[in-house]
Amino acid sequence: MTKTTISLIKCDVGSLAGHHVVPKPLLNIADRRLEKAEEDGLINTHHVFNVGDDLQLLMAHQGGESNAEIHRLAWEIFQKASDKAKELKLYGAGQDLLATAFSGNVRGMGPGVAEMEIEERGSDPIVVLAADKTSAGAFNLPLFRIFADPMSTAGLVIDPGMAGGFKLEVLDTIGEKKVVLKCPEEMYELIALIGTVGRYMISHVWRAEDDLICATGSVTKLSKIAGKYVGKDDPVLIVRAQHGLPALGEILMPFTHTYLVAGWMRGSHWGPLMPVGVKDARCTIFDGPPRIVALGFQIVDGKIACDDGGKPMIADLFADPAFDMARREATEYISMLRRMGEFEPARLGIGEMEYTTLPQILKRLEDRFKPF
Ligand code: F6R
Ligand code: MG
Ligand code: MG
Repeated sequence: MTKTTISLIKCDVGSLAGHHVVPKPLLNIADRRLEKAEEDGLINTHHVFNVGDDLQLLMAHQGGESNAEIHRLAWEIFQKASDKAKELKLYGAGQDLLATAFSGNVRGMGPGVAEMEIEERGSDPIVVLAADKTSAGAFNLPLFRIFADPMSTAGLVIDPGMAGGFKLEVLDTIGEKKVVLKCPEEMYELIALIGTVGRYMISHVWRAEDDLICATGSVTKLSKIAGKYVGKDDPVLIVRAQHGLPALGEILMPFTHTYLVAGWMRGSHWGPLMPVGVKDARCTIFDGPPRIVALGFQIVDGKIACDDGGKPMIADLFADPAFDMARREATEYISMLRRMGEFEPARLGIGEMEYTTLPQILKRLEDRFKPF
């Protein structure tokens, strides 16, 4: 049976009124080009959306992960959209397009990528999560809760299909190594690593008993690619739900409360992650707060299930009053954190800041520092 691939590829190619929101003309460029790719048979279904200043291309196809044609398609769309952004003098036009020529895979060229190739089950509900003004480490906490915390995911305790536990792959983005840890047996080791969200990031999750792929996230450190801070690492994640996997509601459960993530204002502050519907996925206060959207859909015969008019049926999962509590908490955290101004821990530690004037200040004061 042919496998189905879900690709979510995103890029900041320019936005309206600062790093705020992707405007309609750029979304239209992506939508039209993906429409054409569907007509040509390269992909089966697409859905274009944005989270803050990130243009998100969701595609279902049968070309497998890291497919050069799919990646070229995304790269060309980002280039076209960035040309339009330049024409309109939108802000940060072409921001994340770090490479000049396409080299077969957009990974490492600036855009963020999450891809999952699956053998379709009887019914395959999928959730994609996409966040702005943060980085891949922001998914460590919810992925732990979803796949390893029995106080959050009831199925870990009461669904025999999940009793075998899950295996989580953790990347060490500084040591450039990876390790697979099995939960519940290695839960403490897992937490010891992934609590350091700026270094260790979960990239894949499999069900332990049969190695069924359950989740895959984008893990990029653009600063490592470019050797300095450029572009943004705003992350994306694909999660499979139900029938021996966490239920939809167990996947959403960790977002009942806000929690702090790195990457707010100038990529240099901790901020409360706010779950929002797509219409509210635009950044305002202090360039944030960091926002996350969750879209749900079904996969059928290589496609995203569509309505009678041929449009993919997409559930905007955080557009729900049930997440009001997390949103209210996030606004309370904003007021607490921003009262601290540039004092840690509101501001990130020195090694993690995207912007800093410290080297210049130290240089200027060099002669005035005396031994004590
Ligand atoms: C954070 C972000 C913004 C910018 C800030 C300064 O991810 O994108 O907070 O860092 O608005 O942007 P520039 O330096 O372009 O004025
Ligand atoms: Mg931007
Ligand atoms: Mg962004």
